[in-house]
Amino acid sequence: MNACIRAVVRTGIYNGINMFGVLQGYQGLINDNIIPMGARSVSNIIHLGGTILKTARCLEFKTEEGMETAYQNLKSREIDGLIVIGGDGTFTGARNFSNKYDIKVIGIPGTIDNDLYGSDFTLGYDTAINTVIEAIDKIRDTADSHDRLFFIEVMGRDSGCIALRSAVASGAEAVLLPERYTSTDELIAQLTLGASTKKSSSIVIVSEGHKAGGAYDIAKQVKERFNHYDTKVTILGHLQRGGSPSSFDRILGSRLGYAAVNELLKGNTRQMVGLRGNEIKSMPIEDALVNHNFKLESDLLEMTKVLSI
Ligand code: F6P
Repeated sequence: MNACIRAVVRTGIYNGINMFGVLQGYQGLINDNIIPMGARSVSNIIHLGGTILKTARCLEFKTEEGMETAYQNLKSREIDGLIVIGGDGTFTGARNFSNKYDIKVIGIPGTIDNDLYGSDFTLGYDTAINTVIEAIDKIRDTADSHDRLFFIEVMGRDSGCIALRSAVASGAEAVLLPERYTSTDELIAQLTLGASTKKSSSIVIVSEGHKAGGAYDIAKQVKERFNHYDTKVTILGHLQRGGSPSSFDRILGSRLGYAAVNELLKGNTRQMVGLRGNEIKSMPIEDALVNHNFKLESDLLEMTKVLSI
């Protein structure tokens, strides 16, 4: 996000626009936590994780009063355009706000879950999945040396993108996703096949959104009926959401930020800029909201099974 903030601020200033940063998202709009930003306000941040502007969940922005206060705070500074980085909730707020008031809005897709329609990649996803892979590679050393079965839980409340793709990239034996129910029987059959062909360790990726439970629940159920290996659980948690961004995310953030300002300069509003193929394209925020979600790549799921025999 910082690479993106840097791009937005500098593209705006390059074009002679007064730029401001809103601290803590929509909460900052309501609390008047808005600061002027110059080219130097975004120096030396391109390599930093998180966001220098901070963020917050804000229910108040869903109310008429909240939106009215936010609007007055923007108007008092003669701000007429808003660029928001986020997912569904962020875009819904931006769309509603801009439907009601004369503020132009552009959305930038930012979530590690990579589940927004209209962009092949969302900001943060590449960094997150690389962190996941690095962690699984390290865990594999123990799994292999001690002949163990590891259940590794990754983020993705509603989206199995990180889980599925990290399973492919780390060579996991199985993956459990929010989009597809996998029974314990099915999982045990898969693990038994591996054990019967002399696999000495296995790795199962569990998405936190898997309907039959998280990694601890699944590990417990499997352990009761499958005892070829010693079983361990690792929850990767919030380490997936931080750290220095990958080069891919820095470039994507820069491109999206630059494009978002250019959309405003063209007079466009209620658009989301996204990456499609290797091009930055814009589309109505409404379309992104209606079509929301990561479509399960069943070919990858099938491939995981084949490649892990
Ligand atoms: O934005 C979605 C997400 O990355 C989910 O995958 C995860 O469940 C959630 O964020 C964690 O959010 P929080 O830090 O608020 O618990």
